[in-house]
Amino acid sequence: MRHYPSDGVDLRSDTVTQPTPGMRDAMSAASVGDDVLGDDQTVIELQERVARMFGKEEALFVPSGTMSNAIAIRAQTEPGDEVITQRHSHIYVYEGGGYAALSGCSIALVPGKDGIMSPKDVESAIRKGDGSLGHYPNGSMVCVENTSNRGGGTCYSLDELDEIAKVAKDNNCKSHIDGARIFNASVSSSLSTERMARGYDTISVCLSKGLGAPVGSVLVGPSDTLYKAHRWRKMFGGGMRQAGVLAAAGIYALDNNIGRLSQDHVRAREIASAVSDMDSYTVNMNQVQTNMVYVGCEGGDSENLVRRLEDRGIKTLTIDDSTIRIVTHLHITDNDVQKTIEALESAQI
Ligand SMILES: Cc1ncc(COP(=O)(O)O)c(C=O)c1O
Repeated sequence: MRHYPSDGVDLRSDTVTQPTPGMRDAMSAASVGDDVLGDDQTVIELQERVARMFGKEEALFVPSGTMSNAIAIRAQTEPGDEVITQRHSHIYVYEGGGYAALSGCSIALVPGKDGIMSPKDVESAIRKGDGSLGHYPNGSMVCVENTSNRGGGTCYSLDELDEIAKVAKDNNCKSHIDGARIFNASVSSSLSTERMARGYDTISVCLSKGLGAPVGSVLVGPSDTLYKAHRWRKMFGGGMRQAGVLAAAGIYALDNNIGRLSQDHVRAREIASAVSDMDSYTVNMNQVQTNMVYVGCEGGDSENLVRRLEDRGIKTLTIDDSTIRIVTHLHITDNDVQKTIEALESAQI
């Protein structure tokens, strides 16, 4: 059933979900306090719960994934340091250059196969100020995105995660996971969130992507880092007052919306395999591991394809001149999957 006030099929992102009636009930029943003063019990409950799920000491509720990444970088680097991350990572491409503006860091870009960095490439990208006569920036933080959005929703294997964490540690770098869709990765690879996060200092966890909460991310990590993170959240303007209303949506999402992510993955796969048989499109099926489908349009003009699909009641997003993105989520039904396949079929030129 679609708890959504529209017949349109919105596949632009998993961020378009609206709180369902059960989630709204949980929000309206939430007890609240003043979280800046530290006495909102629902926020405290959410933070403690997420910290436990990832096996970390503490957690901090923040308004967005972008802010969670920004705070993680600010709390674990110094101006003049360098962040090591994948060439198409959200931190590099889509966060307004926050690593530079808010933390004074440069960035070292690592290639990736379908968005996944190899431990060896991460190691090669780490430069150290020490021993370079002060020529190099100081590579001090490795950021891994799991799932990789621009990689097509791909997941790191446990070996890759562990090896990258070890490379970071051996090179005296902090390690961070941008886990905007870490639950999709957990469900797809049958790995617990605690196990995936084990070697990492901090993880940003989004509640407002596949989990369906309206707002919010949680940064988890060790107490000393979270102490600094708390201060940076204040300075970045991310302290919220009666935030328990939002935290309640997050708790509801953790209780109800993790297991069901596998349905989104099945639906994405169904769309991808149908589209890969159509003459006008290409899909790299290796990338389709979670809830995303990147569709290449032969002959280019992705904007035109997005318009043709919208005329047929299907909303998608352009990624570049010749690629569109389709993302399944909790409002997408089996019927929507069929409609989407038919629309793509008939939108071919
Ligand atoms: C991989 C990844 N990281 C971080 C974010 C940022 O999340 P927000 O939109 O809450 O700032 C997104 C948003 O889609 C994302 O895809």
